[in-house]
Amino acid sequence: MAERETWTSRAGFIFAAVGSAVGLGNIWSFPFQTAANGGAAFLVVYLAAVFLIGFPTMLIEFVIGRRGEQNPVAAFKKLGYEQWSFTGGIGVFSSFVTLAFYSVVGGWVLSYIVGSVTGAYFGDPGAYFGAVSAGPTAIAAHAVFMAITIGIVAFGVTDGIERATKFMIPAIIVLLVGLAVWATTLDGAAAGYSYYLSPDFSTLAKNFGSIVPAAMGQAFFTLSLGFSVMIAYASYLGRDDSLPADGSAIVVINTIVALLAGFVVFPILFATGGAGGAGGGPGTAFVALAGAFGALPAGQIIGLAFFVVLLFAALSSSISLLEVPVAYVSENYGYGRSTTAVAMGTVIFVVGLLPALGTNYLTLYNDVVFKFLLPIAVLLLALFVGWAADREAMDELGRGSSFGESFTTVWLWWVRTVVPIAVVVTLYLGVKAIYTSFQKGVYFRNREILGDTLFFSTSWWENMGDRYSKTVIFVF
Ligand code: TRP
Repeated sequence: MAERETWTSRAGFIFAAVGSAVGLGNIWSFPFQTAANGGAAFLVVYLAAVFLIGFPTMLIEFVIGRRGEQNPVAAFKKLGYEQWSFTGGIGVFSSFVTLAFYSVVGGWVLSYIVGSVTGAYFGDPGAYFGAVSAGPTAIAAHAVFMAITIGIVAFGVTDGIERATKFMIPAIIVLLVGLAVWATTLDGAAAGYSYYLSPDFSTLAKNFGSIVPAAMGQAFFTLSLGFSVMIAYASYLGRDDSLPADGSAIVVINTIVALLAGFVVFPILFATGGAGGAGGGPGTAFVALAGAFGALPAGQIIGLAFFVVLLFAALSSSISLLEVPVAYVSENYGYGRSTTAVAMGTVIFVVGLLPALGTNYLTLYNDVVFKFLLPIAVLLLALFVGWAADREAMDELGRGSSFGESFTTVWLWWVRTVVPIAVVVTLYLGVKAIYTSFQKGVYFRNREILGDTLFFSTSWWENMGDRYSKTVIFVF
């Protein structure tokens, strides 16, 4: 088998990891989650979650990856804990499912780039979202997005992933800074900033139970944790730089990008009618922003720049999602990287057809992966490193570390105690939220007879209290 690739430089690794972290989560969900959860009050909890729980968890994945020097399943075996390999398996599976719907949203972004150029969404942003978010257009755009992702991953770790992220990350930052500067000139800018930046602690106190899990989920999501992506990326290090230093750089840059996105989105929303309506379903952000671009002078160019940022952010993440199953299959079964990338990407495209047919499926995939599989994976990773492979982990974290031995010790105890407790609380609240949403309605497979033809359909049965209302999503 060919020798394993390694990043060409320390910066190469950091760019790739930042690329994975910076994604739709930073620019699309973060500002809208913040808006939906009371503005700056959410921000405070989110920052705490990122630095206190996210950062130590990222180091968990780094130590496993760098020490294992293998794909996320084989890494556990190489470390001598084969019985833990399923933890990496959950990561591979979650990456696979996530990419299936992440790519659908990536396709929406492509449609919005086209729409910015043609002006198609200016007249009726709601109708445009309806037209591109599900159905044939969504499937075609999903295919294009997936093809680009496959193309980059097929080129390999350095020629594909490293090169692409070294271009995309600086472009994202430059464009976002430009947009944020432009946004200062908007009429509603001051109101936007004040909503974003002045914490209303009474909101926080009132909604603590929902804000904390939302912030925690967002922290894991934005740092791409739990899916073994950081295990895979750290496995290509082949060098002994300080993991805590690299991890801090990645977390800080990722946070800066999210904050910057807020400095773009809030002035725009407040300039054109406030943050009302934000945070309800995956389409809200697209509809709200597209509507704002339609109402602003030079909205077409601004819209184009914004959606290009979103595209780069989505792509630099999607390639890391594809890398995990590709690394596993190509290393485990000895297939070539590009063949595996094409085959795996095609299968993922097919799995993504369902969410491309209805945004309800997208929400369903998203909930299962992020509210359920992700906390379980993080919990297992923390238990593994904290209690099973603690010596190896401490040794690995210390290697090349600039942070000293007491940092390593505090980290270990943190990973043993605080991280698992925080994750269990998140998991409990997340499962509870899924249960509540089931009470709102369920997906149902039906056999139906129309005339004399038998067919199957999937519908969403919404609980209206005294009756159910049925929406057919998919007929086959
Ligand atoms: N971090 C990405 C974002 O902010 C999304 C994401 C979550 C992700 N988990 C991931 C990306 C795993 C790649 C790999 O949009």
